[in-house]
Order: sequence, then C-alpha cells, then structure tokens
Amino acid sequence: MYIFRKTADLERYLKRQKENGLKSAFVPTMGALHEGHFSLLAIAQEESDFSIVSIFVNPTQFDDKKDLEKYPRKDEEDIRALVTRGCDVLYLPSPEEVYPPDSHIKSDFDLGGLDRPMEGAHRPGHFNGVVQVVNRLLEIVQPSSIIMGQKDYQQAAIIRRLLEVTESETELVVAPIIREEDGLAMSSRNVRLSESERKVAPKIQETLQWVKAQKGKKPLELVLKEAVAKINEGNQLRVDYLEMANAQSLEVVKNWEDSEALVLCTAVHLGPVRLIDNVLI
Ligand code: PAF
Repeated sequence: MYIFRKTADLERYLKRQKENGLKSAFVPTMGALHEGHFSLLAIAQEESDFSIVSIFVNPTQFDDKKDLEKYPRKDEEDIRALVTRGCDVLYLPSPEEVYPPDSHIKSDFDLGGLDRPMEGAHRPGHFNGVVQVVNRLLEIVQPSSIIMGQKDYQQAAIIRRLLEVTESETELVVAPIIREEDGLAMSSRNVRLSESERKVAPKIQETLQWVKAQKGKKPLELVLKEAVAKINEGNQLRVDYLEMANAQSLEVVKNWEDSEALVLCTAVHLGPVRLIDNVLI
C-alpha cells in the first residue's frame, strides 16, 4: 500500500494512474477503522482498478471541540488493517495539507435545504465542514466513485447533492449499514462506551425496528412519542432527536402517508458519546 502524507505527491501519483487509464474508488474516513469502513473498502475494490482511503479527522465539521479532542486516533492500527485488506493507497494528510495556510477552501454550497433538519438542526455548521472537506478531497483525488455509508444517511444525501451542484463526474455509491451482532450500528465512537453503556446501546436499533413495525397500526406522531419514551427509560440513553423524514428531500413528516419512501433517523446521547442510526421504511 502506498501512503501519501503530502497532497502534491498524491496528485502526482494519481496523474500517472489516470494517464494509464486506471479508475479509482475513494473511501473518505476519519480513521479508527472498523468493519463498517472495511465494507466500504471492499465495495471500492470491486468498483475500480484501485482503491484510495483517506484518514483525516476534519476539524471544520466538529461543532463540539471536546468531541474533536476525544475523537479516537489509531493511525498505526488503521495502516496495518488497510494493508491486510489490500487497500492500494492511503492518503494521511495533516490539516495544513488539506487546508493550506492563506487558501480559501469553499464551504458554502447550495444544499437545497438537505442540511437543515435533524443533524443540521442539532449540530450547527457540521455539514458546512463536511461538504468543505469532501469537496476538497474530491478535488485532490478526482475518483471515478466515492463510497459512503448509509449510517450517515443525511451526510450521503448531502454528498449526492454536492456532486450535482459541482457537476462532478464522480459517482456516489451508498453502502448498507454494518451492525454488531446485537444490532448496534458500527461507529468509531463505540469504543468510548463503558461496559454498561455498551449493553443498553442496542435499544436504539430495537426501537427503530419497533417504530417500523407500527406502520398502519397507530398514528405516526403517537408512535414517535412512545419510541422516545422507550429509548429514554432507564436514564442512560437520552434522545437528541427521533424524526421521520421523506427519504429523498429529508423534509420531516408527521404522517405515515406523507411520503412513499420514508427514513427514520435518530441521534441519542449515551455516556460520553452521541450515536446516530436510521432505518428505511
Ligand atoms: O463520515 C465521516 O467519517 C466524515 O464525515 C467524512 C465523510 C470522512 C468527512 O470528514
């Protein structure tokens, strides 16, 4: 596996690959890699002639500075795992390589309102930071495809929009959520849960499935109210939001009939972390 820490070196390498007619698939990450990331890498490997993973904990997307400081960093472990799994290229830049001093890296894109509800409403500025870094990474890597996980449903929808508004030739592939055996969605933040917190965490997914099963039985607003109470009971989990949205526009809906394709999204505080999950309905 080639490891590039300098943007200019990566760009030189990628130019040669392009001249040789080779197609790349790109997996942007913030490291602390787990099976969810490796499933994205496996798709990248199927989709292309060579795979590129980036590891960059992007400071501009953290609305909470403590979350940024505590974000797990495991570069050596991640490198070993990527080598084992046959990744071709790793881009491991410093903040100065991504955001060169005195450069203006665009962060204001017309996201068509996709950035307003749910994560957007609860983490001000978060999606500006995400589109800023993903757009910058795409400028550098110029991949044939970018692979993103459905776990960050709203983020994937926003990246689809970013590709449209920037008239990018890169194709977006959204990969299914990878879960632990007990249903908890894999996340780099899970390692920060204590034993007792880890035990109650699957309740998030169980409750999303329960809501899904109520379709056609009870009014949506009532079901969501009951679901919040279910998650919150026991005092360890605390719902930040639990919303049903139109799966395309992400507009929050109040009735089951408001859209044919729905997505139920939640963010839940548990001990030192905030976990997100979703289910398509
Ligand atoms: O999903 C993530 O890990 C990050 O938001 C991303 C897409 C790598 C941008 O920093």
